[in-house]
Amino acid sequence: MHLNITQPDDLHLHVREDAMMSLAISHTARVFARAIIMPNLATPIISTEAALAYRANILLAIPKDSNFIPLMTIYLTDNTPPSEVEKIKSNQHIHAIKYYPAGATTNSDSGVTNLSKTYKILEQMEKHDVPLLVHGEVTDSDIDIFDREKIFIERHLNVLINDFPSLRIVFEHITTKEAVDFVNESSKNIGATITAHHLLLNRSHMLVGGIKPHLYCLPVLKRETHRTALLEAATSANPKFFLGTDSAPHTIKKKESACGCAGIYTAHAALELYAEIFEQENALDKLEGFASQFGADFYNLPHNSRKITLEKSPQTIPATFPVENDAIYPFRAGESVAWRVSQ
Ligand code: NCD
Ligand code: ZN
Repeated sequence: MHLNITQPDDLHLHVREDAMMSLAISHTARVFARAIIMPNLATPIISTEAALAYRANILLAIPKDSNFIPLMTIYLTDNTPPSEVEKIKSNQHIHAIKYYPAGATTNSDSGVTNLSKTYKILEQMEKHDVPLLVHGEVTDSDIDIFDREKIFIERHLNVLINDFPSLRIVFEHITTKEAVDFVNESSKNIGATITAHHLLLNRSHMLVGGIKPHLYCLPVLKRETHRTALLEAATSANPKFFLGTDSAPHTIKKKESACGCAGIYTAHAALELYAEIFEQENALDKLEGFASQFGADFYNLPHNSRKITLEKSPQTIPATFPVENDAIYPFRAGESVAWRVSQ
């Protein structure tokens, strides 16, 4: 069985720096034409200048035979000057601003402590039509980790869309039925990315039969009813839902630890994993919209002109990918993925 589709884009990707960047970029560029690059480096990318310098490093890591284009973002802080928005708007390489609640996830310590501190910049983003990418989890210590997305909608997203009705927002890596309902019920300015791992797994996969640190990510995997809602959204052909892998590599040392990092690495087989999901849902005809059209449309980008071919032919995933003196443990390590991309 073959599937010929427009080359896809990954609308949420972590490529890190140095050796890890080379690996992540080569895996993504193998299949995807473009990717929205997350700015949460150890030293976050908080300005247009920093994003352009990071982009220059990424360009050096792109394999010579690839036309891959990194779509840059900057990291919102309490002190981001509103004048940054016009700078972004006039720069063709920067496509969005990312909001991390301070302390919510990897390298988010410089994130926003209170959304009200960013209202001047949000006004400018709304005016200049620069999208806000939202990590939608509250960080309050009294809120259970499994409820953090749901409470974020109730306490913050509802206020945000009310105060900035024309602001384009991507609700990133949604994990709950509440998030699906919120996006479905909101205006066309609200989109959402969905990862392959949240479509494939529920929290029992991470916790039953022994804890699986390589399946720990944020937002954390949820119960099966939420996975079902995500499957329905992804295969619904509703253009508000589109592909964002949130592939987020950490070394094995950092994952297999008394305090392991959050992040799942899927870049080596991302589109193939989504193909498995869409096939299981009898929705392969909906994959092209989700992977190659709706995200580009949301970001006002042209569709890619190249086509790629997915083939129903199993591949075995390597046990690890070596990186410097350590390694990355890829999703499905040592196991099989049912599809492969044959260019
Ligand atoms: C991401 C990372 O490691 O940068 N981790 C993750 O679990 N998804 C950050 C993020 O997107 O939350
Ligand atoms: Zn992410």
